[in-house]
Amino acid sequence: MKDTTGQLKLGLSLVSNGTHPAGWRLPEANAAAGMDIALWKEMAKAAEAACIHFMFLADGIAVRTAAKDNDALSYSGRIDQFEPLTLLGALSGVTDRLGFIATASTTYNEPFHIARKFASLDHISGGRIGWNVVTSWSEAEALNFSRDKHMEHGARYGRAEEFVDVVRGLWDSWEDDAFIRDKDGGRYFDPAKMHVLDHKGEHFKVKGPLNLARPPQGYPVIAQAGSSEPGQELAARTADLIYTAKRDPEGAGQFYESVKGRFAKYGRARSSALVMPGIMPVVGKTMEEAEAKYRRVQELIHPKVGLAMLARTFGDLSQYDLDGPLPDDLPELDGVKSHREPLIRMARENNLSIRELYMRVTGAAGHMQLCGTPESIADTMESWFRAGVCDGFNIMAPWFPDGLYDFFDLVVPELQRRGLFRTAYEGKTLRENLGLPRPAHPAAKAAAPVETV
Ligand SMILES: Cc1cc2nc3c(=O)[nH]c(=O)nc-3n(C[C@H](O)[C@H](O)[C@H](O)COP(=O)(O)O)c2cc1C
Repeated sequence: MKDTTGQLKLGLSLVSNGTHPAGWRLPEANAAAGMDIALWKEMAKAAEAACIHFMFLADGIAVRTAAKDNDALSYSGRIDQFEPLTLLGALSGVTDRLGFIATASTTYNEPFHIARKFASLDHISGGRIGWNVVTSWSEAEALNFSRDKHMEHGARYGRAEEFVDVVRGLWDSWEDDAFIRDKDGGRYFDPAKMHVLDHKGEHFKVKGPLNLARPPQGYPVIAQAGSSEPGQELAARTADLIYTAKRDPEGAGQFYESVKGRFAKYGRARSSALVMPGIMPVVGKTMEEAEAKYRRVQELIHPKVGLAMLARTFGDLSQYDLDGPLPDDLPELDGVKSHREPLIRMARENNLSIRELYMRVTGAAGHMQLCGTPESIADTMESWFRAGVCDGFNIMAPWFPDGLYDFFDLVVPELQRRGLFRTAYEGKTLRENLGLPRPAHPAAKAAAPVETV
């Protein structure tokens, strides 16, 4: 049974200039946030002052869009952003306790690159790094990596499973005390403590060892956000953090049970990983203020952006009246059936026009939106946490920087007042601060005495 009396974990899921696609258009928003390094440093320091566990950077390796042409695309604010590992290198230099999680694809990288870069950043940051393992979902990414088509879903996950094992194997290239650097004797490392991986698998052949000492955390924290069967299996076998997009506690609870129910078969305790759904908060000192803020940003969703969002599911709807209903003869698109039926039902049951439909679904990209006072937002977070449907949340700031600072200044103190959130970092590394154990080197595990009952 999950302990629902403790404190919740809080991450920030930050992307480009904020989660809400029209947030950058608000007068007070920094529209160029995606490329403003001074702002990112300031936001990282503010997150640390608020005792946030980590900053997570979602990423794609292409301009990912369903816009029908370049004119429609030119209304999207989600174009330019820093490469996450590079950005985190800079941000770790201006912080001491905040953790950082960067997204990197198993479909368009080699395991040696990933093992080396994350190990390097873990050393640079003093053990505060995590890797969000993604298989990449867009065709646009394939076209940037010498392929004509995206790899099929099952094949992507097959590669991801082996990829993560190779990366972890490379992180174990050296036992923690392998580098003796004995000046008197002249020996630099203990050869008995070097482990050459020599991996030969279906997708990869990797000799090793890694040219870098074992990361301070043993393994950087591994995050995963796949929701399909193979996605949940990968999470259950390998992840320390599991992200998900859920709009209600019932859906969150089902997911929690579904993914944690798989842990036993991999010999893992359910408490060995944290499930953290995303929420997009819009905070006001009063409910009226919060609602007015939300209305203001919603009204700025350009129709070309709204239609591009619906195009992922229904194809191009630009020839229809925006203020009329969804047409009856919607085309059947491949691979989006799970989104299609709920959206059609939502539109029909609520008599929504095309405009009203995209207004409902565009804001938080499938995550829960919480528009309210610090108390009402804390109430919802507390009720999900106490119900045992999550271990914490990923806060998706709707725009930068105020959309983020409002959460730090107003909601965090309310959570702290309720004893739901900490007031100081417990440890130095991200694992310590998340309450996750440091994985022992396999050689140390093998040498440990067998426990008898
Ligand atoms: C909170 C969250 C964050 C995600 N971040 C990324 C990301 O940064 N890059 C990416 O390519 N996919 C990202 N995804 C997509 C997932 O990796 C995954 O492709 C998606 O949830 C579909 O799952 P499935 O492939 O198992 O069906 C994210 C998903 C969620 C819920």
